[in-house]
Amino acid sequence: MDHSTTPLASPERSPLQPKWWHTATVYQVYPRSFCDSNGDGIGDLPGITSKLDYLKKLGIDIIWLSPIYKSPMDDNGYDISDYRDIASEFGTLADFDQLVAEAKDRGIGIMLDLVVNHTSDEHPWFLQSRQGSDNPFRDFYIWRKPAPGGGPPNGLKSSFGGPAWTLDPATGEYYLHMFSRRQPDLNWENERVRAEIYDMMNWWLERGIAGFRMDVIDYIGKQVDRELIKDGPHLHDYLQEMNARTFGSRDILTVGEAWSATPGAALLYSGRDRQELSMVFQFEHVTQQWDTVYGKWRPKPLDLVNLKTVLSKWQLALSEDGWNSLFWGNHDLPRAVSRYGDVTGYHVESAKMLATVLHLLKGTPFIYQGEEIGMTNVPFTSIEQYRDIETLNMHRLHVEAGLSPEEFIRGANENGRDNARTPMQWSAAPYGGFSTGVPWIEVNPNYPKVNAEAAIRDESSIWNHYRKLIALRKTCPVIVYGEYRSWLDQHPDVFVYTRTFDRTRMIVVANFTPRHIALSLPSELGMNGECLIYNYEPVNMINETIELSPYEAFAIASRTG
Ligand code: GLC
Ligand code: CA
Repeated sequence: MDHSTTPLASPERSPLQPKWWHTATVYQVYPRSFCDSNGDGIGDLPGITSKLDYLKKLGIDIIWLSPIYKSPMDDNGYDISDYRDIASEFGTLADFDQLVAEAKDRGIGIMLDLVVNHTSDEHPWFLQSRQGSDNPFRDFYIWRKPAPGGGPPNGLKSSFGGPAWTLDPATGEYYLHMFSRRQPDLNWENERVRAEIYDMMNWWLERGIAGFRMDVIDYIGKQVDRELIKDGPHLHDYLQEMNARTFGSRDILTVGEAWSATPGAALLYSGRDRQELSMVFQFEHVTQQWDTVYGKWRPKPLDLVNLKTVLSKWQLALSEDGWNSLFWGNHDLPRAVSRYGDVTGYHVESAKMLATVLHLLKGTPFIYQGEEIGMTNVPFTSIEQYRDIETLNMHRLHVEAGLSPEEFIRGANENGRDNARTPMQWSAAPYGGFSTGVPWIEVNPNYPKVNAEAAIRDESSIWNHYRKLIALRKTCPVIVYGEYRSWLDQHPDVFVYTRTFDRTRMIVVANFTPRHIALSLPSELGMNGECLIYNYEPVNMINETIELSPYEAFAIASRTG
């Protein structure tokens, strides 16, 4: 990663200070499912190191590693029992140092997942804390007496189903866990907790990492007794304190996961004078598409007008200050091409269309492993094939509450987290070349066709399209800094937007349907220029009416005046 920044062509047009991560693309690795080096069926650090040349070739700048720390793996590593060691199935600290060094040789930085809202129930702090009310670590976690009539202290619910409180018989008190009962929440109000976390962060920074992705960071300011979890009153104080005591003096990339974030909140997190984070992940474009009662477990068809409204709102809200992250998928979400594209009729076309739309927006793009080869959701038919704690818990609860098991599996096949967690498909070899042994979760059966080896070889593959988009961001300031404007907001089938910077105008046109569309454009959008990217044939000129093929997308740039 090159930390030097080229000054903008006309800085007076943009009040933003250029940062190296404005032109960067991040690639998320889910270590368990990326590459297994020793045949035990579980991906590992040496496996990741062995694929650095692949990532270099793709052109990415940063790897975000989902958690690699010591963990009982109740939630695949989002339950940490030692923040300063590596899970034995993933390797050793020496393997980690080697990954950092070899990545650095290729200009790639390593970003760690910082999971500090909670620990594992096997973390030594929690083992101490549960010893008794007078233990010095008692206050590291959130303990409350039962409600006056007995039962949990209040009505807080865990994201994985059921109450967020578990009774510990040793002291007759409940501890809080916003996720599984094996993920007790840390008490951020305790200064010693915060100091321990900052020490640990500095320890990793000293090892040469390039950033942190912060797990459910919007939870850390919570006020439990008011049942206020997200955006608590001290959230931003804690982040400013963290910034000052850890990474503030370093040029790293920080991104907070904040399901609750509104554009206003995002400006607090990422505003340039706030001394907090580089950017946040917001999820409005994801949750807007969920059912009001059963959430993601009862899928709804894509509403493009709504999707465009949300994306445009965020583009505009952070146009002068703050910074957007851009993503379709991650380890908690379905496969992008399955969710927003068409994997049966137009797999390649729709995957390229989605990539085009996302990567030409303003913000830092994040690619989730396998997205670049168009990996799809899994056709699991039985709950036995699922591994994810959330899916397994929700299956039990929703079926008890009246959703039919078949409907639940349908929902899980569309939106469950395991869709993103099946092994990376490297080749047509057994198990997709992910491992020589039986993988911890089944490989998607489409690996003989959908795999990295085939994709690299094919000039017209989804992979090569991603490679072009990543490279374009590095050479076209209009993609990085151009002013955003959307067009045809109410059109149910196409997404059209322009970006303008320093007398360059770029237009992006994308058909989100499997149909041919005859589109009328406002005359001011007529354009004749250079086609930057396309998924059918290059388009250099558009007039007031254009014909779009199924899932067609392209971008044209031209100099104005
Ligand atoms: C975040 C992670 C998710 C995890 C949860 C608890 O949402 O992305 O995978 O289960 O936090 O750590
Ligand atoms: Ca392994």
